[in-house]
Amino acid sequence: MIGNLNKKEIIAWLKEDDARRLKRLWEAADTVRREQVGDAVHLRGIIEISNYCRRYCHYCGINAANKQLQRYLMPGDEILEAVGQIENFGYGTVVLQAGEDPRIGADWMAGIIQSIKKETSLAVTLSLGERSKADLKLWKKAGADRYLLKFETSNPALFDKIHPPVNHGWKNRFEILAYLQELGYETGSGVMIGIPGQTYADLAEDLLTFKKLNLDMIGCGPFLAHPDTLLGNAFKERMHDTDQVPNTEMTTYKVMALTRILCPNSNIPTTTALATLNSKNGREQGLKRGANVIMPNVTPVRYRQYYEIYPNRICLREFGQDSDQIIKARIINAERTIAVGKGAALSYIQRNRNNKGRTDK
Ligand code: 5AD
Repeated sequence: MIGNLNKKEIIAWLKEDDARRLKRLWEAADTVRREQVGDAVHLRGIIEISNYCRRYCHYCGINAANKQLQRYLMPGDEILEAVGQIENFGYGTVVLQAGEDPRIGADWMAGIIQSIKKETSLAVTLSLGERSKADLKLWKKAGADRYLLKFETSNPALFDKIHPPVNHGWKNRFEILAYLQELGYETGSGVMIGIPGQTYADLAEDLLTFKKLNLDMIGCGPFLAHPDTLLGNAFKERMHDTDQVPNTEMTTYKVMALTRILCPNSNIPTTTALATLNSKNGREQGLKRGANVIMPNVTPVRYRQYYEIYPNRICLREFGQDSDQIIKARIINAERTIAVGKGAALSYIQRNRNNKGRTDK
């Protein structure tokens, strides 16, 4: 079954509701995960460094049209303090995430990256939106290891409908992802599941696109309606459309399992959006259905309420040492181990090895 599913088969799995057959899907994904990337679960500490955003994405609560929201940009020393906490927790990676914020100057960011690389042994992942070629290049040179940029949907008409453009010279996110790979970033992407207007065929195409792009990290979470956004109420109207992908926990598991089968060597997180839908054991279930990464939120608590991309984020209830302990306990509960080290994706390690023309030794 590994790597070998066509669009028709993927659509059939996405629509499957027979519990016995689904159990076979979970088991297949779990087996591939165990054989390819092993039992260790990588922890990545996310710091949401700014909630300013110049974009008007129709699903996102921190989009520029939301004038109610209090905005912040973390000062450098607070970012480095949070980085220190990530080290104390023993995680291998820091993820610096923000809205698409022009206040984040390229040189300022490069300085932060350099400090982190100088003072810690952490891998640095950036998730800062659609930035210029010059910025992406500068940050790679400064020491950034990875970049996350979700393409959200492979259907260009649906993408354009929910993402008012800015004039920045890029054709689309695929062009940016290709450039990130060319620069040598470990490259991550993903989609939202159940965007109003997203069909099963669209979602199947998303999954095939993950494979085609050779992504190292693939994060997929359910679309969660935010009442202050244009898409916030659109879902109710679509619920009875039989071709509309439901934004449910079950569909999310199916996507994670199919992603693992199609992209056996990629790193796959069990997302915060999934844990928000099922705070009881969503993370564990994700780990049993293909995932090998968890990304705990380490943003200073006073900022968290303002990074409201969707309502009731689980990280509003989980923080500090407690959350670290709880998340580690969940990993052990799921009969897995806690990884040490940076946790580069196997796909990335293998590609670099091949590029260097080296054999195994
Ligand atoms: N529901 C689910 N995910 C969302 N994101 C933004 N808004 C929402 C929402 N309403 C996700 C998108 C985006 C990332 C920052 O968070 O995938 O890329």
